[in-house]
Amino acid sequence: MYHSKIAGLGFYVPDNIVTNDDLSKVMDTNDAWIQERTGIQERRHIIRNEDTTTSMGVKAAKIAIERSGIMKDDVDFIIFATLSPDYYFPGPGVLVQRDLGLKPIGALDVRNQCSGFVYAISVADQYIKTGMYKNILVIGSEVHSTGLDMTDRGRGVSVIFGDGAGAAVLSREEDLSKGILSTHLHSEGQHAEELVLKAPGMGGRWVTDIMKDKDPNDDSYYPYMNGQFVFKNAVVRFSEVIHEGLQANNLQVSDIDMLIPHQANLRISQYIQKKFELSDNQVFSNIQKYGNTTAASIPIALTEAWEQGKIKSGDIVVLAAFGSGFTWGSVIIKW
Ligand code: COA
Repeated sequence: MYHSKIAGLGFYVPDNIVTNDDLSKVMDTNDAWIQERTGIQERRHIIRNEDTTTSMGVKAAKIAIERSGIMKDDVDFIIFATLSPDYYFPGPGVLVQRDLGLKPIGALDVRNQCSGFVYAISVADQYIKTGMYKNILVIGSEVHSTGLDMTDRGRGVSVIFGDGAGAAVLSREEDLSKGILSTHLHSEGQHAEELVLKAPGMGGRWVTDIMKDKDPNDDSYYPYMNGQFVFKNAVVRFSEVIHEGLQANNLQVSDIDMLIPHQANLRISQYIQKKFELSDNQVFSNIQKYGNTTAASIPIALTEAWEQGKIKSGDIVVLAAFGSGFTWGSVIIKW
């Protein structure tokens, strides 16, 4: 039995900055509304044909591999979390294997939206714990901008999401007092349609013909979000799953050195911070610059926190996520 540790981190965001004022030129919104409700000041959008979910993931992965000190041939397995794959199939995991020139190792795609990175870390951790793999590349990457309804109709959703990618190399840790201490995953599918992209879909209750002609009135190809319902559930589930992780390791809230919440909404993170009585130094937020990048938000935030020297050896680092599904989860790490 082994532990796994985060051996290397990297992130990539497109250069193209889209401010709240930029959005107000194409839809009925404004900087004050967006900042007051979400804390977001700007986000990145890809330049079409320059970047994709995979290409951004590959750029983030190259940095993570280099920082981990392993060679790319030492990567044993790929896990790619996204809700915005380049292709309907195959998923982006195999494209990373190709584009990074990795050996013909296994590649797994994770479809857990905002909880995707936490789920992916949990899967990687199990493989490393059992000794099956030594080094696993875990990527979270999203292109939202090309799939959002950038009209007044979509303003409640489109202002929130941004593009970007983050990656981590998880490696075997022989010291069982360190590394990933535990992971905790949950789902509640009864709320699946509260945050959903219904089309293209092959079946189910809302069958939409995948080859359907573009109908301007058909909004099933755009994400739907019941914002207030999502908000209320998020604050409850974030709290529960952080407590669950702490309890499993006999830790107190005061033991948290750094909480990296999924960057869903600054108001959600602030609510959690207040509830847990954590200081500004104990909670990392960068949603102001990048918006909500779904599966990429935790690895981007974790990388920035680490780059800024906010995570030190021996720190208790907590990752927590909530999102579409609903799904939620936490990861407790002794750095
Ligand atoms: N700009 C300006 N006005 C907007 C707007 C925008 N981008 N989007 C919605 N509005 C309007 C609405 O039309 C509504 O107008 P009305 O009162 O005239 O009907 C008003 O603002 C309030 O809308 P509402 O949806 O009730 O706002 P809210 O306070 O719930 O904030 C969210 C909306 C989306 C910011 C908020 O619900 C939220 O953050 N939810 C959680 C989202 C989240 O975290 N998602 C990711 C989960 S992983």
